[in-house]
Amino acid sequence: SWTMAGFKQMEIERIRAQVGTGRVICGLSGGVDSSVAAVLIHEAIGDQLTCIFVDHGMMRAGEAEEVVRTFRNRFNIHLVHRDASDLFIGALEGVTDPEIKRKTIGRLFVEVFDEEASKLGGADFLAQGTLYPDVIESVSHTGGPSVTIKSHHNVGGLPETMRMKLVEPLRELFKDEVRVLGRELGIPEAIVGRHPFPGPGLAIRIPGDITREKLDLLRKVDTIYLEEIRTAGLYDAIWQAFAVLLPVRTVGVMGDGRTYDQACALRAVTSTDGMTAEVYPFDMGFLNRVAGRIVNEVRGINRVTYDITSKPPGTIEWE
Ligand code: XMP
Repeated sequence: SWTMAGFKQMEIERIRAQVGTGRVICGLSGGVDSSVAAVLIHEAIGDQLTCIFVDHGMMRAGEAEEVVRTFRNRFNIHLVHRDASDLFIGALEGVTDPEIKRKTIGRLFVEVFDEEASKLGGADFLAQGTLYPDVIESVSHTGGPSVTIKSHHNVGGLPETMRMKLVEPLRELFKDEVRVLGRELGIPEAIVGRHPFPGPGLAIRIPGDITREKLDLLRKVDTIYLEEIRTAGLYDAIWQAFAVLLPVRTVGVMGDGRTYDQACALRAVTSTDGMTAEVYPFDMGFLNRVAGRIVNEVRGINRVTYDITSKPPGTIEWE
């Protein structure tokens, strides 16, 4: 009968047969799919694999460090960590249109990834964490840079890395099966059970232009919100939860004084595939606690709202 342990063994054999003595490069994003693909390929071919993690500076607090630590220390995987945050944030200066944000990030991502791949002297294969739903529907989201470079982008005159042959060991699996495989491979729950995170990261959770200050402010709010969700034991019941920094200032009172600070929105939805979504029905006690902590602990935020729009007609992200 079919088991995940059996699938893993079969995929390892398949990867070895495909790759031979060739060299493989894999883009790591910190997400579930690319992490599972990387660890599986590493089990199959060891040091013939090198991972490239392009850090665009728009991850959640601590996540970039966690990815690097986990892959280097726990799995002993060769990992290039390119901190390109100055480049990305510089290029996004003054950009307010959501699609231009996505295109800018996508273009730079491919450039930086290719640069790092060239520094390694290229490779024979490019590994991707493509899932079955990506295969049947090659446009599974709004078209931004999923950190895997999707094969439908793989047309004409592209950089060297994109002319490599593809290794896609997850292409028969659904998301929940990838998580089971990840656990089978010993990947920490913090990575395997992680909510989906968009390729453009926090850039599309800051309506308006992006600055380092805004990114830092949003990270503080987001960290408190997710901490409370985990403490309440709700993380696994939610498909995605995150904060949005609103480009609006409102009046508040703090002690004897008047404040005039920024507002933020919290979002949490349930979903099975991200195509439709329902608002997560937190109780008011939970929301009060989170709002209290955010306003008290994050200087610069004095108002918290909860987004109660389902998808459709809303989207999960605000941009
Ligand atoms: P929306 O906002 O379209 O999001 O309801 C559906 C799912 O897709 C994710 N998302 C993206 N993922 N690049 C990505 O890799 C993107 O540009 C992008 N935009 C949205 C979103 O987080 C949700 O899981």
